Amino acid sequence: MKWRIPLSDVHLGAEEATALQRVLQSGWLTLGPEVRSFETEWAQFLEVADAVAVSSGTAALHLASLALGVGPGSEVIVPTLSFVATANAVVLAGGRPIFVDVRSEDDLTMDPEEVEAAITSRTVGVVVMHYGGYPCDMDALKRICDQHGLFLMEDAAHAPGAKWGERFLGSIGGAGCFSFFGNKNLTTGEGGMVVAPAPEILERVRLLRSHGMTSLSWERASGHAWDYEVLGVGFNYRLTELAAALGRVQLRKLEINNRRRVELLKKYRTDLSAIPEVKMPFGEKEGVGHLCVIVVEEEGARDGLRRHLAERGIQTSLHYPPIHLFKFYQETFGTRRGDHPKAEDLHRRLITLPLYPTLREEQVEEIVESIAHYFR
Ligand SMILES: Cc1ncc(COP(=O)(O)O)c(C=O)c1O
Repeated sequence: MKWRIPLSDVHLGAEEATALQRVLQSGWLTLGPEVRSFETEWAQFLEVADAVAVSSGTAALHLASLALGVGPGSEVIVPTLSFVATANAVVLAGGRPIFVDVRSEDDLTMDPEEVEAAITSRTVGVVVMHYGGYPCDMDALKRICDQHGLFLMEDAAHAPGAKWGERFLGSIGGAGCFSFFGNKNLTTGEGGMVVAPAPEILERVRLLRSHGMTSLSWERASGHAWDYEVLGVGFNYRLTELAAALGRVQLRKLEINNRRRVELLKKYRTDLSAIPEVKMPFGEKEGVGHLCVIVVEEEGARDGLRRHLAERGIQTSLHYPPIHLFKFYQETFGTRRGDHPKAEDLHRRLITLPLYPTLREEQVEEIVESIAHYFR
């Protein structure tokens, strides 16, 4: 189905085309100088020393989990209201995800009090997810992790460019992971990035990204290395030069695109305030406008409203079904309905509305008017 107003959209123009052309003409298509430049520019943007580009956000989370020491027998505390990859990465690394609930209907990030209560002698770390581009309470979460000697990893897939105080999200914990999937604030189609303050963590990620090998094809082809050793079992999680070239152009547009997203969110918030049947969370927080999420007061209205919008060509989505309710998690880890009531209740009442930099004000007005019409 072709939506008249899709949930998300990308605007790729002449600059992206020129960058791709440059790579095609270079004749080198995978991990090489473009990827290295993208890593350096990403690190500069986040004001950190270095970064490692990988093939997806999931690959970033998986490698960061391994590098931070997740393995069999370890428990890692994760939000249940996230994309499933946040928890899958822990499982892929051999660990056991321990889910926690959201703070409230107004703040859908993970609840620090529940994090503290979920710590056991087997806990090795906490993965936070900055939902919709809004920061988790990083002061509280960092304090808890420091007190208990746990790593703090940030799933910053929604939050490139967002801040907590003076620091960029993703650069606060022991590792920060980003996704450049097709619907993200910065996209390369598929792609991801890991940042970490400790050089040895990044080194481990770099090694695992390409089969545990000590040198890359590019380094050998360009005469920087003759030979390689294999230091462990790694993966092929390399980013392509084409994706990196796209990412470099997109990075230059990120701040302006984020600003536009936030402006549109403000308009949604103002216009929706006239409709008592729906609420918009995160009223008090600053973010980078990755998602526009509304919560309907009455559970039964959610699906009807989604159908009503779909009939008008307006695409909506749900972010997210709580991970602990997925069949795999229930069967493997014994999680149950009722474990995290706030996220379960929200899941029945959440709707994600269209949001992307090229969305127009009149389209926001049309969406809000369609919502008002449904409740009239
Ligand atoms: C919160 C979150 N974590 C992880 C991912 C995984 O990223 P990717 O799709 O690039 O593997 C995504 C998005 O896709 C996400 O939204």
